[in-house]
Amino acid sequence: MKKYIMALDAGTTSNRCILFDKNGNICSVSQREFTQMYPHSGWVEHDPYEIFNIMLGVARDAILKAGAQAEEIAAVGITNQRETTVVWDKNTAQPVYNAIVWQCRRTAEYCQRLEQWGWGEKIQKKTGLKLDAYFSATKIKWILDHVEGAREKAERGELLFGTIETWLIWKLTKGRIHITDYTNASRTMLYNIFECRWDQELLDLFQIPVSMLPEVKNSSEIYGCTAPEFFGSEIRIAGAAGDQQAALFGQQCFQPGMVKCTYGTGGFLLMNTGYKPEMSSNGLVTTIGWGIKNEITYALEGSVMIAGAVIQWLRDELHLIDSAADTEYLASKVKDTNGAYLVPAFVGLGAPYWNSYARGVFVGLSRGVNKSHMVRAALESMAFQANDVIQAMREDTGMDMNLIRIDGGAGSNNLLAQMQADFSNISVVRPACVETTALGAAYLAGLAAGFWDSLRDIQKHVQENRSFYPQMDQNIRKKKLDDWKKAVKCASYLTT
Ligand code: G3P
Repeated sequence: MKKYIMALDAGTTSNRCILFDKNGNICSVSQREFTQMYPHSGWVEHDPYEIFNIMLGVARDAILKAGAQAEEIAAVGITNQRETTVVWDKNTAQPVYNAIVWQCRRTAEYCQRLEQWGWGEKIQKKTGLKLDAYFSATKIKWILDHVEGAREKAERGELLFGTIETWLIWKLTKGRIHITDYTNASRTMLYNIFECRWDQELLDLFQIPVSMLPEVKNSSEIYGCTAPEFFGSEIRIAGAAGDQQAALFGQQCFQPGMVKCTYGTGGFLLMNTGYKPEMSSNGLVTTIGWGIKNEITYALEGSVMIAGAVIQWLRDELHLIDSAADTEYLASKVKDTNGAYLVPAFVGLGAPYWNSYARGVFVGLSRGVNKSHMVRAALESMAFQANDVIQAMREDTGMDMNLIRIDGGAGSNNLLAQMQADFSNISVVRPACVETTALGAAYLAGLAAGFWDSLRDIQKHVQENRSFYPQMDQNIRKKKLDDWKKAVKCASYLTT
């Protein structure tokens, strides 16, 4: 009897496995962080082996904790940090370089040159994306250009590329399956999201042989099985999606116009726009929300590079707090930030500014600014950045968005949720289970495996929610938003 769906959530700083039951309840969780490497300023790398080994470890641990047998697991769904690029040798199974992480800015200058040569608009028309170092294409090119012998091997068809779900699926199937899903393909800057195919002109531009690329599949589909040696017997792999798209699905944003905001390492807001891709004129990207039975649901996305990571910075670099949970208490001790604003542009600014060279600033400091004010300014920075994206979505779609669903680690911070409601003049709804990314991956796999019959079946999992409503005086809101814009300008002055 199949009792569980297993979700593997390969995030930017940690891997997590969650077993869900038929009602969408969590049966067990196991999570472990992995190493972040910063070889140069603005560069970020991961070890693909460490990612795989840690994922295997947490998966085995979660099975053990639930007292489950592999035979009782209907299927596994995988969700992942998107864009992060792995290139490996298909004969030796060795990555030729570390994984280049989505946050890494090493190809920013090259992207700037391409922009000057007029590629920006063309790339947006094909991929829906902003020409930026964030996406996989220039990271693959960098590896082929800089690792000795890589380009020759790639041209001989010996190298494979994958984002993290592709790498994990390839490893879990012992090299039998080299696939990605529509959502992850849409983040590579090589995939034409309107015609649903790898784009030869872009492959030529970035000099990437097509033989490196995975086959693109539905986000919900049985791809194959894990090799028996990993979990005692085979488990079907039946779903894959980038983590932000999985959260959109997990939040049950099934209707056009529904929006979710995840406060993870970064902050990611996605709006379901239905079967029609909406192009942005306000710094957002058009992306694939999911593909099921080869029917594509599109989304409009605003990606904020640093959200929850600002809390890690307060903890690990400034030592202002002992744990993320302290922020709510500390920031609540003061009624405002005493005029201080933090713009955490540590790796530049993403949507809607797209400035790779911006750097973080703390402005408006006076002698009276204390630790609580600073922590409060850090929380506010997450809400301000999300609000910039909400405003862009309002402008792009002409819709007066009045409700947003939040999740992610920092989403459990009540003060942040209230700030979001206040700054964006919007109702904020938070589900009781904020593990919506893993839940989305579970839903996608469970639908393909017949564990759940339909979206309607899933919608029966009604969750208890908590809502936050705007309370801020509109003059205060206006003043704060104006000041924030000025602070963002200061961050952009520090360009090289
Ligand atoms: O695009 C990057 C995003 O997928 C990373 O998500 O949750 O690891 O911050 P997260």
